[in-house]
Amino acid sequence: MSFDHVRIFDTTLRDGEQAPGAAMTISEKLRIAHQLAKLNVDVIEAGFPISSPAQFEAVQRIAGEVKGPVICALARTIPADIRAAGEALVTGAASRIHTFIATSDIHLKAKFAADRYGRSLADKRKTILRMAQEAVTQACEVTSDVEFSAEDAGRTDPGYLVEVINAAIEAGATTINIPDTTGYCVPHEYAALFHTVGERCDLNGQVTLSTHCHDDLGLAVANSLAGVLAGARQVECTINGIGERAGNASLEEVVMALNVRRSNFGAQTAIETQLLTPTSRLVSIATGFAVPPNKAVVGGNAFSHEAGIHQHGVLKSRETYEIMRAEDVGQNAEAIRLGRHSGRHGLFSRLKSLGVHVDAERQEALYQQFVELADKKKEIFDEDLRELAQRAATGKSETSHYRLDYLRVSTSTGREPRAEVLVHHARSGTLRREIADGDGPVAAIYKAIDQASGSHHDLVSYAIRSVGEGADAMGEATVLIGGSGVFFRGVSRHTDVLRASADSYIKALNQLETFRTEEKNVEFVGDGIMQSFDSGAPQ
Ligand code: KIV
Ligand code: ZN
Repeated sequence: MSFDHVRIFDTTLRDGEQAPGAAMTISEKLRIAHQLAKLNVDVIEAGFPISSPAQFEAVQRIAGEVKGPVICALARTIPADIRAAGEALVTGAASRIHTFIATSDIHLKAKFAADRYGRSLADKRKTILRMAQEAVTQACEVTSDVEFSAEDAGRTDPGYLVEVINAAIEAGATTINIPDTTGYCVPHEYAALFHTVGERCDLNGQVTLSTHCHDDLGLAVANSLAGVLAGARQVECTINGIGERAGNASLEEVVMALNVRRSNFGAQTAIETQLLTPTSRLVSIATGFAVPPNKAVVGGNAFSHEAGIHQHGVLKSRETYEIMRAEDVGQNAEAIRLGRHSGRHGLFSRLKSLGVHVDAERQEALYQQFVELADKKKEIFDEDLRELAQRAATGKSETSHYRLDYLRVSTSTGREPRAEVLVHHARSGTLRREIADGDGPVAAIYKAIDQASGSHHDLVSYAIRSVGEGADAMGEATVLIGGSGVFFRGVSRHTDVLRASADSYIKALNQLETFRTEEKNVEFVGDGIMQSFDSGAPQ
């Protein structure tokens, strides 16, 4: 079976950035645009050049520096907008101008109320049609790749929509976008618009129809896919589904639906799907919008199984509960999340993958300890398991090397944050007090703990996230330390994020120390921690 190509038109940097609070700097936009090029999107809508000097510069730099995808700039059907779009794109190898005007009666009455657009609705419709036609004609003088959008097409009278689209095609538009601007349509209605346009407009085999769906009713992806089934061969979407109000259709969901159910659609994209999760993370960091754990495809839980029955099934054969492979979308294939719903099978296979052997006669006791712990904690991490197994085997706790007995952090304007710690060394029974300054409070704490413990290692990564809501919210700090290919993770939760950061570090250090005591020949990189801070770890 041969599959049609569906173009992916990414508008993260334009419609995505219109999400309240999502503004990005020019260098962040450039980084994202380069990543989108690696992801192999067909078109990047880089911005709306007339709207501000920064938008103009972002489009100009992306057009000049990012190779591969067509770079597109947005313009109203106003001559100055089209000129600005053309000027911003001039350095690009492949450029598109995307011009739009509203066509629904609701928009016409509200946005084109002035008499200069016509006194009656019929007159206003004529004016809008003419503006669309003139704008497309002007854009075609700059580039042969011109897209026209009938804003609020989802609520536009289909007969009038056909007239405007025919006018835009006659003027030279090669892509016709039919946006559900307000996220109002349901899939069969949205598909019907494409059928109508397909039947009544002169597409001549040259014009590509495009979807552009907003998620106000949570239907943006479903509507986009309905559009593809009805003949659309371009989908406009954003990474993580960010965008105006409830957002746009999520690129990763559209792409994976087309990929996993290819034969259902008879169509496919050219997206490098293993880059979906890294791209999602990049956009999340640049916008400050966290990706919910249950987000399809790129969420942290998208390939996690906690219920014992699911874990057992997946461990036997992944297909039992998974319809795509984690690694195909750039997620970690280690998908078993251990918690209170996990069974013995999940627990012991994770221990095995960690290289921890548990004698048959100790397994039941260990499982009971695991269940007790799982009742207290939402999720059981690898270091919790190592700790449980260690205690079960030796009666000794991994926390027996270092204990944080005192922590004080001071921050004030004009001075580097300072941390003071008191670390108890279990083996010698001594206490060591240290004070250190750092670029940020966490850096100061980690430096002071390093001095107090005398440990040398790399800080590989540090992350903090909020768990829960409101007054009960806690900060969960996750730290990874190690070196020479051996890593130890510490995770801790506390209402005080600095305390959580310190505790997670001590946990990781205890594991490292246990490992060192048992594996004397492992080498670790000295003073690596400061290199990690330099490379942008915690502040
Ligand atoms: O939602 C919309 O209608 C738009 C247009 C500019 C295409 O974003
Ligand atoms: Zn939009």
